[in-house]
Amino acid sequence: MKSTVQTIMVSVILMVAASSCVSRGNDPGWEYAPDMYYSKGYEPYNQADSFKTNPYGMSMREPVAGSIAMGKSDHIYALPNSGEGYEASATMITAPEGIDQVDSRGKYLYNIYCSACHGVEGNNDGGVFKKVPTLKPAWKGYSDEYIQTLSEGKIYHTLTYGKNNMGSHASVLKPVDRWRVIKYVKLLSKAAGSTTAAVSTQDSTLTK
Ligand code: HEC
Repeated sequence: MKSTVQTIMVSVILMVAASSCVSRGNDPGWEYAPDMYYSKGYEPYNQADSFKTNPYGMSMREPVAGSIAMGKSDHIYALPNSGEGYEASATMITAPEGIDQVDSRGKYLYNIYCSACHGVEGNNDGGVFKKVPTLKPAWKGYSDEYIQTLSEGKIYHTLTYGKNNMGSHASVLKPVDRWRVIKYVKLLSKAAGSTTAAVSTQDSTLTK
């Protein structure tokens, strides 16, 4: 009798011990002081709750319209997206210092973002223009006098806002890269106008 009671007790102890070791899948079990894991403070990148007063229920507020991140003041573009803005860009918008020569990044970006329409050499013979010729502009290519004499400011305006069938490239080309591409466009337009000028670019020392 005594040994039966002992056997039962030992097996109960063994069962309890074994069950406490059983894996419970992803259940982390009890947490001691959960406040230490889940901060009560509103952390901008930790969406613990939905905040009805904030846009999209985010923990953080949206930045004030027109906010520019620190160190990104070159993204400020004061001219409006209008005919007057376009005309004004001809004289008011000029390349920043240091962007006075063509570098390989301008060519690289041109081939990614522009050649599909304007063609690798700027002859308006990219795949998109070939497929949908009605999209083409009136001028035949960068060798056209129109582009050769077009001010860099106006091209910057067009890259920033887009123009008719050409969309804005502001989301894919940051300001300094827009200027690099413009310098490359101007190089292509000069090279196309002359039979001897080879299109050459310097290796970019600026990689981003
Ligand atoms: C979807 C096709 C398409 C792509 C991609 C495209 N363009 Fe254009 N681009 C056009 C069309 C169409 C026009 C003519 C707009 C007009 O004047 O009606 C144009 C006009 C231009 C002009 C003349 C602007 C002016 O002020 O008259 C330049 C310069 C130019 N593009 C350069 C570029 C560069 C540089 C890129 C790449 C960053 C690019 N384009 C990408 C279709 C495109």
